[in-house]
Amino acid sequence: MKQSLFVTGTDTDVGKTVLSALLCAALDGIYWKPIQTGASEGTDRQTVKRWANLPDERTIPERYLFEPPVSPHLAARQSGTTIELSQIQLPPHPETTLIVEGAGGVLVPVNETELMIDLMQQLNLPVIAAARSALGTINHTLLTVGALRGRGLDVKAVVMLGDKNEENERAVEHYGNVRVAGRVPRLESINREALLAAYRSHFDRSLFE
Ligand SMILES: Nc1ncnc2c1ncn2[C@@H]1O[C@H](COP(=O)(O)OP(=O)(O)OP(=O)(O)O)[C@@H](O)[C@H]1O
Ligand SMILES: [Mg+2]
Repeated sequence: MKQSLFVTGTDTDVGKTVLSALLCAALDGIYWKPIQTGASEGTDRQTVKRWANLPDERTIPERYLFEPPVSPHLAARQSGTTIELSQIQLPPHPETTLIVEGAGGVLVPVNETELMIDLMQQLNLPVIAAARSALGTINHTLLTVGALRGRGLDVKAVVMLGDKNEENERAVEHYGNVRVAGRVPRLESINREALLAAYRSHFDRSLFE
């Protein structure tokens, strides 16, 4: 069976959706974002469909979808509901790579007692962590990797987004004991061809295929 992946990040807006679109295009994957907030500004599912040029059937509808662009616990509360992790099960995906995108970073609350990392632990997929390549990334990335490993999760790789910064990559690998297995350079226009070109030029493909 093909290996599915959970794409998390060191922060919101760090490039998880860009990376998910790239992985869907490169690995012929199916995209799923179980918890989406900020739907009033568009959903990541729509964005991935556009960027990776995926047909409808290559994305799976969200399990929880909220309009306000706030943390999941708050978006749910404002909508008069509660996110129940027991209601989020991995969809069937025979012979296909599922690319699952989290909301925000690993310690984002999803309800009054649980965090995004609890969902990750429940789904138990190998994790790819999206991180900025720029200053500040060492601290954020090491904190993220440490939290994931503390829950026994398999951190398959870190992928950096932005201009190449060799020292930051080296430091994350050295202090985090983790592979930086790819980088998505700043793309002028995000589309399937550009994402596939980035994958071919800037990723250790042996880790993903
Ligand atoms: N390599 C890149 N080249 C060009 N633009 C990028 C790149 N990485 C990120 N961006 C831009 O940064 C913004 C945030 O990226 P993205 O939506 O992938 O973040 P995210 O981590 O998925 O955020 P969220 O937490 O809301 O899901 C997007 O508007 C995207 O266009
Ligand atoms: Mg996103």
